[in-house]
Amino acid sequence: MDGSTRNSDLTYRGNRGRGRHDWLRLTPAYSLSVVEQLLDQVALEERVLDPFSGTATTPLAAATRGHEAVSCDINPFLIWLGETKLRRYDRSVVTEVGELGEELAESARSPSAARSEAPPIHHIERWWHADALDYLRALHAGIEHAADAHSARGRLLRVAFCRTLMALSNAAFDHPSMSFDDARPEERDKALFAARFRDDVAHILASAAPAPRRRAHVLAGDSRDLDALGDRRFDRVITSPPYPNRMSYVRELRPYMYWLGYLREAREAGELDWRAIGGTWGVATSRLMRWTPRGEVEPASLAPLLLEVEAGHATNGPLLARYLRRYFEDTSRHLRALRDHVVTGGSVHYVVGNSTFYGVLVPVEALYAELLERHGFGAVEVKRIRKRNSKKALYEFLVSARAR
Ligand SMILES: C[S@@+](CC[C@H](N)C(=O)[O-])C[C@H]1O[C@@H](n2cnc3c(N)ncnc32)[C@H](O)[C@@H]1O
Repeated sequence: MDGSTRNSDLTYRGNRGRGRHDWLRLTPAYSLSVVEQLLDQVALEERVLDPFSGTATTPLAAATRGHEAVSCDINPFLIWLGETKLRRYDRSVVTEVGELGEELAESARSPSAARSEAPPIHHIERWWHADALDYLRALHAGIEHAADAHSARGRLLRVAFCRTLMALSNAAFDHPSMSFDDARPEERDKALFAARFRDDVAHILASAAPAPRRRAHVLAGDSRDLDALGDRRFDRVITSPPYPNRMSYVRELRPYMYWLGYLREAREAGELDWRAIGGTWGVATSRLMRWTPRGEVEPASLAPLLLEVEAGHATNGPLLARYLRRYFEDTSRHLRALRDHVVTGGSVHYVVGNSTFYGVLVPVEALYAELLERHGFGAVEVKRIRKRNSKKALYEFLVSARAR
């Protein structure tokens, strides 16, 4: 990783074909290769923590090698998905889910099959054509009836369902060859939808039986206080926090979250995004204008940057300056809380991306380095890993440090 080129192997795209890491490809995920390279330097007895679990890349890679590993996240769907990826599945469950998948794929084709309500996604017709939506509603009802979301069977079926719902959506890049051309008899489409679900079940089951060597867990928790960890301490932190780039994970994950019942209305998405670090979606933006800083430690180089961003745009400049200030306040709280959960001499590794606002480059990696120093970490090193964008000077960095 010399950091000069755009290397898709160093993003979630590189996780393709990597067993459970490839169960559901989501944008929040970071590169498994980066995690593997870091884990190569870690002794087996080291306990690994990821305070921003996302799709559970770190705990899955660490537990597969045999480390004790824990992660936490604030998003309930990602907590469920992470736990689903980390569990053991008996051979008998795998066989059973294979058979159930066949049955459900078929029965959802029937016009008389029970159907779930369509999820309350805004402009749902933009996401799915009517017959794809109809098939998904029948499939969803079948899965709900067959197995609870927290049972082994129910988890595997639902991850396959998530793959199918995205494959059948108009948002999918690899839109199935089941093309929606002029002459498309509904029955033909439904047979193809069923084939897609069968393939998705098979894809999941191919890597369900071999379990990670250690049982790892994703905890529901806020990384700004890390109360979820109790008094547990770790030797190694490998993580990728949200970047201050206004990306909303909730927004990205909406289709899955609505279908699986983690969101029931748009307001909830905004609320969740407001609780997440770096979120700015829906209600989160208006809240930001009313937000007041708590007087948390700030990196010294932040204040002049905020002034520049504020001056960058008459209306949005002040909003974005607040966004950045809140982001670094949250980061500072997180690193302060983290210090209590890392043994002295333990190492932390943060994969972070820089960002620009109105031409002002925010050197996120340098601000992390400064905050780590302020919160009891030393020997800070910053390495550039990869270019994120062909035009702008946007990079991903690895910031590493040791607990003093
Ligand atoms: C960049 S993603 C992590 C991606 C992960 N490394 C992976 O491979 O999937 C950042 C994660 O931080 C979570 N997050 C945001 N704010 C949080 C908070 N206050 N506490 C815990 N997790 C939070 C988001 O839900 C998101 O899953």
